[in-house]
Amino acid sequence: GYSIHEPTSISSLSVDAQGLQNQIDQLSGFSDAPAPAVTRVLYTHKDVLARRYVKKLMGIAGLSVREDAVGNIFGRWDGSEPELAAVATGSHIDAIPYSGKYDGVVGVLGAIEAINVLKRSGFKPRRSLEVILFTSEEPTRFGISCLGSRLLAGSENLVNTLKTITDSQNISFLDAARSAGYAKDENDLSSVFLKKGTYSAFVELHIEQGPILEDEGISIGIVTAIAAPASLRVEFEGNGGHAGAVLMPNRNDAGLAAAELALAVEKHVLESGSIDTVGTVGILELHPGAINSIPSKSHIEIDTRDIDEERRNEVIDKIHETAIRITKTRGVKLSEFHVVNQDPPAPSDKAVINAMETATKELNLTSKLMISRAYHDSLFMARVSPMGMIFIPCYKGYSHKPEEYSSIEDMSNGVKVLAFTLAKLSLQ
Ligand code: GLV
Ligand code: MN
Ligand code: MN
Ligand code: MN
Repeated sequence: GYSIHEPTSISSLSVDAQGLQNQIDQLSGFSDAPAPAVTRVLYTHKDVLARRYVKKLMGIAGLSVREDAVGNIFGRWDGSEPELAAVATGSHIDAIPYSGKYDGVVGVLGAIEAINVLKRSGFKPRRSLEVILFTSEEPTRFGISCLGSRLLAGSENLVNTLKTITDSQNISFLDAARSAGYAKDENDLSSVFLKKGTYSAFVELHIEQGPILEDEGISIGIVTAIAAPASLRVEFEGNGGHAGAVLMPNRNDAGLAAAELALAVEKHVLESGSIDTVGTVGILELHPGAINSIPSKSHIEIDTRDIDEERRNEVIDKIHETAIRITKTRGVKLSEFHVVNQDPPAPSDKAVINAMETATKELNLTSKLMISRAYHDSLFMARVSPMGMIFIPCYKGYSHKPEEYSSIEDMSNGVKVLAFTLAKLSLQ
């Protein structure tokens, strides 16, 4: 082989920051919402166009591109010892309704730019480097978060779920995937599972989605753990009826049952006594949804998270108990109480943290160890690979809304740290 002393010479790490910003702007154009908002939902036409754009950039960067049965996309740069476990990086490009253009995208386009940075610097990897675009980190269409990475991590449950699940328009996952050119055969789904030892490390670059780095004037967050997310789907049913004619004592209003449960979510979360426990009711739908009809069905979806898994599970138990109590006090039926997912937290890997810390030091950037309160594909990659995450500041911590913003300089720092970290890990 050849010899490499240090990963690469620091001074030669030059990021084309303006080029990266232009790519982010272009990608944001593949959207079903008017700018500055971005809506890009799994397997829609806009998602397919965005994927095509990313594959093109991977190709221009000299990566060999392959896709799996659900559309996880891999761009590979062969190392000098390609038989070794590779080092991977990546994130997602799907965007929840009316969100911004940086969430996930920085970790995909920034990863491709990190590869370009290393190539321009003359670096030659020992372990191969891979950029991954994960399918559907966001649960928007099928209610499943981190769909692509969850499947890569080997979830048998998910394989079964994906064979039967439908979206709100009653389109099956498999039909949706086929319309985007994937999942030609449903038996392909478990072929997505990663073989053990595929990756020696996985690193994800992401905007912080919180205000800490900006508030404290720190350039880089080094993530030590990702909080434990869970989501629940709940439905109540009542008799419905005429909004004028049915008197109050004779009602069993499924809408009020949902409203009461929504308030109870807040109450149970606050009862934990910790600022780290959070809960959100982001979906509340009433049927038939007419002003003069008592709701006969309600559907609510609850997101709850904590850095402490047990405490989060207590909240879920309390929500369940309250839902049952509401059926008694309001005479409604609890037709569904489904824990869609209840994921444990994931710790980052010591060696990956080390590599990221070394990178920030060598690059003279301020950094801080922190936890991730948002979930990421890294939560699942941690099941099959040592994992680490690099956070960069974002304006006021805004995310999941159009005002999301990260400066060119912050992105450039993140890409440099990522490039350096990948280089270092590829030589280990
Ligand atoms: C991911 O987008 C999350 O909700 O944390
Ligand atoms: Mn997101
Ligand atoms: Mn994200
Ligand atoms: Mn996320």
